[in-house]
Amino acid sequence: MLYQLSYFTIYFFGNPQCVIWDCKGREKFYFCKTYFEKVLKKYKIVCLHTIFQTTIFVSFSFICKLCLFKCLVVDIRFSNINNQTSKDEHQISNKNMQILQQILFVLALGGAGFLIANRIGIIKKSIQLGRAEDRYDNPSQRWATMFRIALGQKKMFDKPVVGIMHFVIYVGFVLINVEVLEIILDGILGTHRLFAPILGDFYRYLINFFEFLAFGVLVVCVIFLTRRNITKVQRLQPTRYRELNGFPVIDANRILWAEIILMTALLTMNAADSVLQDRGNEHYAQVGTFAFSGFLKPLFTSFSDTSLIAYERIAWWLHILGILAFGLYVTYSKHLHIFLAFPNTYFSNLEPKGEMHNMPDVTKEVQIILGMAQPEANAPTEIARFGAKDVKDLTWKNLMDAYSCTECGRCTAACPASMTGKLLSPRKIMMDTRDRLEIVGANMAANGGNFVDDGKSLYGDHILSEELRACTTCNACVQECPINISPLDIILQMRRYQIMEESDAPGSWNAMFSNLENNQAPWKFSQGDRFNWAEGVK
Ligand code: HEM
Ligand code: SF4
Ligand code: SF4
Repeated sequence: MLYQLSYFTIYFFGNPQCVIWDCKGREKFYFCKTYFEKVLKKYKIVCLHTIFQTTIFVSFSFICKLCLFKCLVVDIRFSNINNQTSKDEHQISNKNMQILQQILFVLALGGAGFLIANRIGIIKKSIQLGRAEDRYDNPSQRWATMFRIALGQKKMFDKPVVGIMHFVIYVGFVLINVEVLEIILDGILGTHRLFAPILGDFYRYLINFFEFLAFGVLVVCVIFLTRRNITKVQRLQPTRYRELNGFPVIDANRILWAEIILMTALLTMNAADSVLQDRGNEHYAQVGTFAFSGFLKPLFTSFSDTSLIAYERIAWWLHILGILAFGLYVTYSKHLHIFLAFPNTYFSNLEPKGEMHNMPDVTKEVQIILGMAQPEANAPTEIARFGAKDVKDLTWKNLMDAYSCTECGRCTAACPASMTGKLLSPRKIMMDTRDRLEIVGANMAANGGNFVDDGKSLYGDHILSEELRACTTCNACVQECPINISPLDIILQMRRYQIMEESDAPGSWNAMFSNLENNQAPWKFSQGDRFNWAEGVK
């Protein structure tokens, strides 16, 4: 004779009154008589009614795992002798477990929050290293630009297929994060699906919608990985563009894999949750099956309750820890664009593309020479710097551009200099600027906020003279950039330095410069002869 004991129920939920084998798919533990009698010493049988009544479960027989005899199944109700004590103990241990989880969650959240805030502080300080530039005028036009370019992804749709796929990731990211709010609150309060009772039926629609997006994000990430690594889109290939070698390629792949793992965790977590709901587990609110995770349920139906709960919890932790880690990681990655694309487009250049500004110090100097202005009493005797040698000489907007660049290479793909095999790649200009800025930021962080000269600079150590010279100032890179970055602006400022301070120019350029200075024209004729060409022209 075989007896059956719902061992799992006793030890995990501490509720001996519920210790009824319900034959509805819960975990079953089978014991032969000898073993059961041993176990029985710990329990007081309160009701053996199923043995004597017709509800006896003799519906099937099987081989006992322990005695290997063919045994009969019966259902026995029993209660723990130390019923109340055991119940209390289990309740306390469950509560302790819950509190431990909450503490761990708050620690993880606080730790990640601290690290992310620290990184944001460093990035903000690094951007503020740049020269002042007024980009606060005309707010209505700025908002409109931001709505059109960043929020509306206008330039992304210049390449419609990538545009649509990116749109799925973008919307998915923004909206799925609403669910993260619930996950965070659940983690802090020790609840499960906190919003379900508040939102009622709408909750199910909402989660279904999030699942739809999660599935979309998953598919798009797989396609993005494919186009990078299998079909090999030219502008993303490190073999073609040297600036992509090393970290940039790893970074791009890493983030796409991370998103795949996060979305898989989300969908399988929901599937495990649904199976637990079906089994009437009291901790899992009855919110129903969801559209996409519903397809994954068969993967979990053979799992025991214990394994399901463990899986659901692991997926939950993986999802939220993954998001926190992602939040920190993006501050080191090109994926910082997911936040910076918005302010970066707000502060777009609203003036005509490629327009160069006079240097106020030089203008003033010339005006003084021409008697058009008077020297200021306390004016510095020397101009700080002509053009830009290092990141600190660029404007704060150039530095924000560098942090916002997605490394998509659309600028480089459109650049005539790059196309014709010159050393210049506008994407590299942005990446070099960011790399140098990171070095300067780390240097300052390590030296109490002051930059200690490391004998290096953006000019020469990162961006070479040859790259700067190759630019035709055609503005194609500026036109192509989906987040209104201007690599050209950096190139022009560095060229100013190159020419005015380093006098680093080919002989023909130097001849042209002196002609401009002396004749106000690029040719070597005196001003008086400038209109000679028109003689005889009627
Ligand atoms: C806010 C949520 C956003 C998320 C989650 C997101 C995510 C991503 C991901 C995962 C990629 C990588 C594709 C790859 O490397 O193969 C990417 C690329 C890109 N993103 Fe975003 N993005 C977001 C917002 C934006 C915004 C607001 C813009 C501004 C228009 C933008 C512009 C770009 C561009 C230009 C690329 C390169 C696409 C290409 O390779 O052609 N993203 N984004
Ligand atoms: S402006 Fe210069 S860097 Fe930009 S696309 Fe034209 S040549 Fe290339
Ligand atoms: S500057 Fe713009 S176009 Fe060029 S790589 Fe960066 S985001 Fe892409």
